[in-house]
Amino acid sequence: MSHKKTAEAMIKCAGPIESALLPRLLHVTEAAAIAASYQMGRGDKHYADQVSVEAMRRTLNYLDMKGIIKIGEGERDEAPMLYIGEHVGTWEGDLEVDIAVDPLEGTNLAANGTPGAISVMAMAERGGLFHGPDIYMDKIVVGPEVVKYERKHPEDSINLDAPVRDNLEIVAKALNRNIDELVVVILDRPRHEAKIKEIRETGARVNLITDGDLMPGVATAIRGSGVHVVMGAGGSGEAVLTAAAMKILGGKILARLVLPTVANGKSEEAIAKEKAEKMPRLEKMGITEKNMGDVLDTNQLVPGNDVIFSATGVTPGTILKGVNLFGEGDARVHSLTMGSSGVVKFTDTIYIHDKEATPLRFV
Ligand code: FBP
Repeated sequence: MSHKKTAEAMIKCAGPIESALLPRLLHVTEAAAIAASYQMGRGDKHYADQVSVEAMRRTLNYLDMKGIIKIGEGERDEAPMLYIGEHVGTWEGDLEVDIAVDPLEGTNLAANGTPGAISVMAMAERGGLFHGPDIYMDKIVVGPEVVKYERKHPEDSINLDAPVRDNLEIVAKALNRNIDELVVVILDRPRHEAKIKEIRETGARVNLITDGDLMPGVATAIRGSGVHVVMGAGGSGEAVLTAAAMKILGGKILARLVLPTVANGKSEEAIAKEKAEKMPRLEKMGITEKNMGDVLDTNQLVPGNDVIFSATGVTPGTILKGVNLFGEGDARVHSLTMGSSGVVKFTDTIYIHDKEATPLRFV
């Protein structure tokens, strides 16, 4: 008897990056998450970030690939490690890989010991990830049912500039629900006051988050997560990483670059200062004041076809559990790792140093 999509068939259709690096990617986000978890709740977000960056970089450098960081911790002069353009991996072998990293997404969440901090990264072939600055993107994220609905009703498509109600009506139709049965996740920021009001006026429910808008975006593509749409302006790196997950899971993101001073309604003077500081760098990346307002879709954010993604929970969240530290430096971690072939793994990993001192327990 033949099965259309057996594990064997999916393994065969995986690209070279997925075949060689997907299992290793899991180790990278696990190492970063465990490092961060030792700093959980200690109130120092910079140190928590620093140790996870160091762990991620060390483990990345074991991998046989010619890796270039495309989305990282910032520019070379502001980030000592995992900066945009940094070369990582052994630079042996044939794999040319572009990389997006966020070693600790939700630094405040980790420092405060509150839910939703993760370690996350994505890889694709050279040219397969948007090469962009570390500013904000205004975004909307929806799951694969909406993509399917749009294919059948192209006139009814999500649009970043459309009124909130129009977009939520499309999502409701696609999910076969009423608008008041939708949950929209949005960062709790003054810049979103008007949008939050608009969402509430449609009757949809709002889940305000203090930080960490990446994983809720991924959750829109996971039925039963209780998240149907993510909206609002947040980190541009988070948008590219969300796009990598959406590309694999069949969901959709629309996003547009915006300077933080503009999104946060700062003074003309502050906007001019940020422009003077950042535009020369952006222009080197091909981003001008004119094309900055272009809406980018999932494929523009992640043009690659051999895409892999891994996220490991640091503190407990909707999709991922947090790191559980026990014994003498032992750890149990929960991750979501997936690739373009369609393979999606939820992994519960236990690292035990001394099997005699800490025998495996069945729970
Ligand atoms: P960090 O991990 O860098 O602290 O970012 C957390 C985060 O909440 C992101 O998830 C989100 O996209 C962004 O910050 C929002 O930025 P801001 O706090 O400036 O509104």
